[in-house]
Amino acid sequence: MKKIAVFASGNGSNFQAIIDVVTSGELAAEISVLICDKPGAYAVERANEAGIPSFVFQAKVYPSKEEYEEAILKELNKYDVDFIVLAGYMRLIGTTLLSAYQGRIVNIHPSLLPAFPGKDAIGQALAAKAKWSGVTIHYVDEGMDTGPIIIQERVKLEDNETRETLQKKIQQIEHKLYPEVLQMLLTQGDVIYVTKARAN
Ligand code: GRF
Repeated sequence: MKKIAVFASGNGSNFQAIIDVVTSGELAAEISVLICDKPGAYAVERANEAGIPSFVFQAKVYPSKEEYEEAILKELNKYDVDFIVLAGYMRLIGTTLLSAYQGRIVNIHPSLLPAFPGKDAIGQALAAKAKWSGVTIHYVDEGMDTGPIIIQERVKLEDNETRETLQKKIQQIEHKLYPEVLQMLLTQGDVIYVTKARAN
């Protein structure tokens, strides 16, 4: 069974969705560790609740990004982690982690990339009066939400769409899609079955 590390910075609702499918047996993986860069993030409480070890690494206490990531890597090595799952981790992955985990880091982003990369993708879609947005799961490279796309699912924006309604629709998709894609990636090594369209 593959061992994964989840990286999160905030609420961790995607982390929770992954915990839930591991617990129910729908995702055949072990969540070895949570890596967090924000003290007090709710994701850490979720880890405690689930009995998952968590480590908070604050980038600012390290002299460089390399040293910050080396400290994380040391922990990942201790747990023999196979795969890194970014779930609301608000930081670019640097060369240290990228070279150690080449092709084994994935991210979820709340837009149809390459549209609306970076921060506040939901706000960006609303400001642009986009007709469609959605969710992208992609491999991670050195860029900001630029790595090869694995899967996307779209969401229609209604005329009266608000930040709250769009965020809710997007998160509902995220919480189903990420576990499904992880199951395929971790057990088949690829996504070779595309899920049916869901009613939003
Ligand atoms: C998600 O919308 C994800 O797509 C983005 O950050 C958000 C994290 O939400 N990368 P949560 O912390 O999982 O609730």
